[in-house]
Amino acid sequence: MSPPDHGPAEPELALVLYRALLEQLPEGVVVADADRRLVLSSERAERLTGIRLSEHTGEDVRDALPLVASDGHSFWASADPWGGLRTLSGSPEQRLLLPEGRSVLAATRHVRSGPDRRLQWLVMTMRSTRTRDRIESETAALVTTVAHELRSPLGAVRGFSQTLRNRWSQLRDDQKLWMLDAIETDAGRLQRQVGELLEISRLDTGRLVLRRRDVDVLALIRSAIHRVVSGGADPDRFRIVSEFDEVCFVADPDRLAQVLSNLLDNAMRHGRGTVTVAVELRRREVQIEVSDEGPGIAPEHRAAVFTRFWQARGRGGNGLGLYVVRGLVVAHGGRVEVVDRPGGATFRLTLPRVAPEGS
Ligand SMILES: Nc1ncnc2c1ncn2[C@@H]1O[C@H](COP(=O)(O)OP(=O)(O)OP(=O)(O)O)[C@@H](O)[C@H]1O
Ligand SMILES: [Mg+2]
Repeated sequence: MSPPDHGPAEPELALVLYRALLEQLPEGVVVADADRRLVLSSERAERLTGIRLSEHTGEDVRDALPLVASDGHSFWASADPWGGLRTLSGSPEQRLLLPEGRSVLAATRHVRSGPDRRLQWLVMTMRSTRTRDRIESETAALVTTVAHELRSPLGAVRGFSQTLRNRWSQLRDDQKLWMLDAIETDAGRLQRQVGELLEISRLDTGRLVLRRRDVDVLALIRSAIHRVVSGGADPDRFRIVSEFDEVCFVADPDRLAQVLSNLLDNAMRHGRGTVTVAVELRRREVQIEVSDEGPGIAPEHRAAVFTRFWQARGRGGNGLGLYVVRGLVVAHGGRVEVVDRPGGATFRLTLPRVAPEGS
């Protein structure tokens, strides 16, 4: 079939189509031929590299795209796609540096043909390093915060144990008991933090498995309050509001207890006044509201509080509690939100009474 009289000729049309397809890809693409010439590049590759590659079409790709590997050497010289091993079908994704301090995550595929498996085409795909940089810096921040948070209770545990051993006979019984109490509290804090970290890693990697059974949420609330009170809180600060003596539904009791503990801990640490836990039983859902009479959460912060590390003002803690709360509630098929109500903070949990199908 001969090309139509008007419009692009067939090879040209193919190129137009290739280009259109290339621009649809989520990654930037650069293609070089057997003679190392840059033959094709997508706009996304231009944006990622900051180089107007289309203006260098036909030039040696090594000059047009001067990529440097993390060891400081030229990527093209060390990968050597044209001269190196002819069995190599490409290079795995790696971070490559560009002029002006830019970097990309790039991988190559070698299209070879003929009995000598000569390189016909080199296809490089590239993507932004932003997501990986964010994950790396979040992980580094997590490690730093956690190391810092674990160090002080560990120091106290060690200090008190040393004092007890070195001065055992000089210490009065009430002093010994006081130190043992402090050790127990700090060890409990460490246990809670390590547990929270494990939960975060399970949530982030989708490995959280709920162990659901019939639970009475009022009993869980009472024991969560009991734990806070035995940690030194005034029992008169807590109020439970419910029409019933027992509110049973299907949930993972340990995870639900953790959710409640985190919310009560926040109400004590960041809020003020009476802490009210109100439970309402609906036809399909259970609604639990935990409220306090403190400064509350400004409307502009209501979505941010559930993200990792978010803290309005430093009052101890890691900024992870509400991230875990949301993860666990969502795993139950429920939702958590900050209610718009003046006079303090109110967190509302809405949980299905039966486990949603497939979860
Ligand atoms: N009841 C509340 N009243 C006022 N501000 C709150 C309340 N609960 C949470 N916040 C704000 O939300 C932030 C995030 O809470 P989150 O529980 O995630 O972290 P944290 O309590 O700071 O630390 P962690 O729970 O990891 O020990 C808090 O630092 C605080 O600024
Ligand atoms: Mg918290």
